[in-house]
Amino acid sequence: MKIIAITGYKGGVSKTITSIHIARFLSDYGTVLLIDSDPNRSVEKWAKRTDSVPPFKIKNEKSAPAHIAGNDFLVLDTPARPDSNELAEISEEAHLTILPCIPDAISLDPMLMMFHDLAPSANYRVLISVTPPYPSKSAEELRKLLLENQVMVFNGQIRRSASIVKAIDLGITVAQMKGRERLPWRDYQEIGKEILEAINYGKA
Ligand SMILES: Nc1ncnc2c1ncn2[C@@H]1O[C@H](COP(=O)(O)OP(=O)(O)OP(=O)(O)O)[C@@H](O)[C@H]1O
Ligand SMILES: [Mg+2]
Repeated sequence: MKIIAITGYKGGVSKTITSIHIARFLSDYGTVLLIDSDPNRSVEKWAKRTDSVPPFKIKNEKSAPAHIAGNDFLVLDTPARPDSNELAEISEEAHLTILPCIPDAISLDPMLMMFHDLAPSANYRVLISVTPPYPSKSAEELRKLLLENQVMVFNGQIRRSASIVKAIDLGITVAQMKGRERLPWRDYQEIGKEILEAINYGKA
């Protein structure tokens, strides 16, 4: 069983939306339990917006323990602002810790502090998310800054997209959208492939 945690110090950086889409991606590769450990229960609320049943299980951190055994993947959505001990613990336990960052209003110092608080053994990647369209260069600038500071970053990124927000409002994923509105699913598929590689999925 592989544990993938989506976390970080900043609120509103797309942790929950990322968790839902990663759970959807991984459900093509095995059984997935998405653990909603946010007291706002954002994932549980999302699932209740529609009758369509997602191809993964959802439990909150209280109900999850009885459902953990036997899954291929655990995806953990965390609330904003874990303290430094929690971040160290999460990143030590997880096979991969995903840290979404959005390019606007970059303040490098708190971000670098976050990397300092990760467990020394942590396998982590920053996910540059909600990237503005061309001609904005803010995503590339953020990537450059992170790489200059020896931070591990996914090659892919998640675009800013109204259809992602629309899908979440409908209680579905962007994979279920039609036509052009489905295009952002490609971003998650690219990240999903990088995740499989980062956790050595399918390798002995
Ligand atoms: N790819 C995207 N394109 C456009 N808007 C997005 C995208 N991802 C997230 N958002 C916007 O950012 C908001 C916050 O996303 P989300 O709830 O996933 O963040 P979070 O990190 O889980 O927040 P919290 O810290 O409150 O748990 C969403 O409600 C949505 O409006
Ligand atoms: Mg959230």
